[in-house]
Amino acid sequence: MKIGSPKEVAAGEARVAMTPESAKQLQKLGYECLVEAGAGTAAGFTDEAYRDAGVEVVDSAASLWERADVIAKVRPPENAEVERLNADKTLISFFYPAQSKELLEFSAKTGASVIAMDMVPRISRAQKMDALSSMANIAGYRAVIEAGANFGRFFTGQITAAGKVPPAKVLVIGAGVAGLAAIGAATALGAITYAFDVRPEVAEQIESMGASFVYLDFEESQQDGAATGGYAAPSSPEFREAQLKKFRELAPDIDIVVTTALIPGRDAPVLWTKDMVEAMKPGSVIVDLAAERGGNCELTQKDQRVVSSNGVTIIGYTDFPSRMAAQSSSLYATNIRHMLTDLTPGKDGQVVHNMADDVIRGATVAHGGEITYPPPPPTVKAIAAQKPKEKAKELTPAERRAGEVAAFKEQTRFQITLLAVGTVLLLLVGAVAPASFMSHFIVFALACFVGFQVIWGVAHSLHTPLMALTNAISGIIVLGALLQVGAHGFMVPLLSAVAILVASVNIVGGFLVTRRMLAMFQKS
Ligand code: NAI
Repeated sequence: MKIGSPKEVAAGEARVAMTPESAKQLQKLGYECLVEAGAGTAAGFTDEAYRDAGVEVVDSAASLWERADVIAKVRPPENAEVERLNADKTLISFFYPAQSKELLEFSAKTGASVIAMDMVPRISRAQKMDALSSMANIAGYRAVIEAGANFGRFFTGQITAAGKVPPAKVLVIGAGVAGLAAIGAATALGAITYAFDVRPEVAEQIESMGASFVYLDFEESQQDGAATGGYAAPSSPEFREAQLKKFRELAPDIDIVVTTALIPGRDAPVLWTKDMVEAMKPGSVIVDLAAERGGNCELTQKDQRVVSSNGVTIIGYTDFPSRMAAQSSSLYATNIRHMLTDLTPGKDGQVVHNMADDVIRGATVAHGGEITYPPPPPTVKAIAAQKPKEKAKELTPAERRAGEVAAFKEQTRFQITLLAVGTVLLLLVGAVAPASFMSHFIVFALACFVGFQVIWGVAHSLHTPLMALTNAISGIIVLGALLQVGAHGFMVPLLSAVAILVASVNIVGGFLVTRRMLAMFQKS
């Protein structure tokens, strides 16, 4: 079969669904690849690069749609494009079936199979095909870059000879894929970053990325907003009020707001109101990623950059991924390639539309002349909908004290038993062994006991210095054993050799572990 990617027809769209690199992988699946002339130019992929990758460059869109069995594109098809579909063809693109009912009916009537990349379920197995996440990741990053370009100050705080510069304060609302990418970019640039989300399970992720989670003063605290498919559920009016109250408090102090709050199938919730914009300092910037669906900020205008009367810049662009077309085309083309890998189980260049497969079923919106949207819920739980870890029960001071006493008693019992067994063993050995051996043996037994007690009680955070200390002790053991290894007899040299071996293993092992731990903190 042939896979073809046309040039995007939507004005300003710079992305392309097939790159020379993805084409090579598609050929390994047994497909022939076609691309419309100039389709990748805006994203930096020349026709020459496609030819070098074994792709046939086709002169016109009409010829490409005619010849390709599978058409992979980025934006939903225009009506003129749908007219080119038929029952033998498969279309793979973003489609947004909930918002495109007429287009969906029209496409289904052609008999073609339509796979909507925005409908890939958010389950672990499908992460490599999750084009919404790939694009949102880019959008979150780009939102911060765009904010920086419109913000008149540094992100990071600086103390220079010319004066002190305070760090920028960034608030990210909605910590899904785009939000987390925005947090990562803002923190990396040195800003003080705050983030809010209705889903409580993301607090840990937010904090692990160096941002502070904004907690609400609300009875149910952060409600469990996780619904199906890894997305959030709508908030209650009371919760929303508490949320707005918190944002009102923060507004005068925040320099940059990036909003990404989304609930699928609904208009974007308005979370940054006019009075909040008015409370911000002049020069502040709001980047509203939800502009496509009405915006999270009351003053956002879709696809526009506007400046409010008090000098706050509000950016409502809806084409952030296209503004980084080379990167987004590469990621999107890889998502498509993974989808085709699932659709080609025989690796023989033949699409097999297995509707029993959760991912293929979820993403297919039209098949065999029928509309197959909405799909049944996936049998596997969505990634974000998995149950958060249960919180440990809060203990009263009395319960805590009782627990501590019980643990102390248990520990003392264990130590007394150990001591009794040790004493009996010593007495038994003492009855048969010579006095010179006993003096060494008692030192050895006491060292084991004290060592065990000391090491067992060391907190996890002090294990690294402890390792350094045990390495030093091993060094002393090696020195002592080296002095003894040349002694007369059999036992002393043997035991010295064993001591040298074991202590060396400890030293070398210690260095290897430390090296691995340091590597975890080094930037690659
Ligand atoms: P997502 O579903 O992963 O994240 C949305 C987050 O918003 C979720 O964590 C959800 O819990 C949170 N949320 C929902 N209601 C909220 C509320 N009332 N308050 C606080 N948080 C709330 O979505 P993703 O993929 O991160 O996309 C985010 C937005 O970015 C979407 O609106 C999407 O359409 C948009 N987007 C915009 C692009 C552009 O060029 N402008 C490009 C790509 C995505």
